[in-house]
Amino acid sequence: MIVPIKQIINKAKQKRYAVGAFNTSNLEITLAIVRAAVKMKSPVIIQTSESAIGYSNLETLFGLMTNVANTVGRSVPIAIHLDHGKDLATIKDCIKIGYNSVHIDASEKDFATNIRLSRQVADWGHKKKIWVQAELGSILGKEGMVKLETGEINMKDLLTDPYQAIDFVAKTKVDTLAISVGTIHGSFKGIERVDHTLLKKIAALVNIPLVLHGGSGLNAGTFKKSIKNGISVINIDTNLRLAFKNALQKSIKQSENLVDPRKILAPSTEAMQKEVEKMIHIFGSTNKA
Ligand code: G3H
Ligand code: ZN
Repeated sequence: MIVPIKQIINKAKQKRYAVGAFNTSNLEITLAIVRAAVKMKSPVIIQTSESAIGYSNLETLFGLMTNVANTVGRSVPIAIHLDHGKDLATIKDCIKIGYNSVHIDASEKDFATNIRLSRQVADWGHKKKIWVQAELGSILGKEGMVKLETGEINMKDLLTDPYQAIDFVAKTKVDTLAISVGTIHGSFKGIERVDHTLLKKIAALVNIPLVLHGGSGLNAGTFKKSIKNGISVINIDTNLRLAFKNALQKSIKQSENLVDPRKILAPSTEAMQKEVEKMIHIFGSTNKA
């Protein structure tokens, strides 16, 4: 059942667990996320990127998410969030249609511009009584990973400055903050990425809930330590994409004669559901619905 995101995140921060924010772009992923939340009796955030909205359109995707949340997911708290909103028109449309939260990602801009744009979106969101997430520091993607490896860029230059964060939150009035503490978007297994000393410092100085992006590929120990050190929301996308693809490849290989898309896709939906359940268990949000 759709509820204000404030209810979900404030409870997580108070009780020291994290809520998973899982990306969707279609029916199968949405069903997997919501079925997992119901099975685990856990709150959950369903989020869409701007490109996921472009895959169909905002009305279709929003209708799909709210319908699944209010029917299949009627027994658990669910919120809908725009992830990495960079286009102001799209952000406005998401606020207007009824998203519970939007992320204004102006982290690539200079500090003053990031403040100005984040404040602007916070004002829009608060008029509709929804929450706004902003981002300070850079969280890279695959291309960035290559630059890091070649030494073209240095992780130290991308991390969130804790003292800038205090100023940023005070001036923007945003409700949650996405921080850069070493994670990267995508799944890069086997490396401890989170700078826990930095995370603890940010959490000590900033009192709004903190969001960890680039959660895929991190191990259970890293997640648990990050939550202990102050993370309240964890974003997961690539883990679900991998579960989808691996199950689909197997499904097609095993039964090449199948032509019904529902039968071909069912193993992928189940695999993604299992992945979400695993994350919920690690994040400690089981039975917190
Ligand atoms: O905003 C989305 C997330 O940060 C997802 O990152 O693909 O590494 O899980 P991920
Ligand atoms: Zn992200």
